[in-house]
Amino acid sequence: MTVTETNKAEYEIPPEIRAEIDHWLAKYPPDQKRSAVLSALHAVQAREGWIRPEHMDAVAAYLDMAPVSVYEVASFYSMIETREVGRNTVAICANISCMLCGADDLIAHVEQKLGIRRGESTPDGRIYLKLEEECLAACAGGPMMAVNGHYHENLTVEKIDRILDELE
Ligand code: FES
Repeated sequence: MTVTETNKAEYEIPPEIRAEIDHWLAKYPPDQKRSAVLSALHAVQAREGWIRPEHMDAVAAYLDMAPVSVYEVASFYSMIETREVGRNTVAICANISCMLCGADDLIAHVEQKLGIRRGESTPDGRIYLKLEEECLAACAGGPMMAVNGHYHENLTVEKIDRILDELE
């Protein structure tokens, strides 16, 4: 992630996102506002699609944090996207249980179907196939994937095709 002062725009956190951040802030002591940083970034991302430098600056100001501390969180967690990605995030678990249940073949199928590799988005911006996903704690339902955060388990090629084809 490259952040330069010259290409940053201003971002005003919309009222509904502020309300969501405030909901999380209420769970922490007043002097621990930074505890809500991940929830705040997640809320902004849910609305804006991905996190831009101006989003991180706005969150930092709202939570009384140094901007660099927000950048560190955003660049560390794989659920926060700091570059433009497709509208629908598809994360196929490739960890051991899912791998033993055939995840590798399903990933190869999806890559071929969409014409992209993991870590890329389709040219029409419809689907972002996450680079790599660690265990999503649904091993008993493997192979599985998360689509926009919703779990789909016991996947087959037919099931994946149906789910992906329905994404707008
Ligand atoms: S290994 Fe895939 S959900 Fe645990």
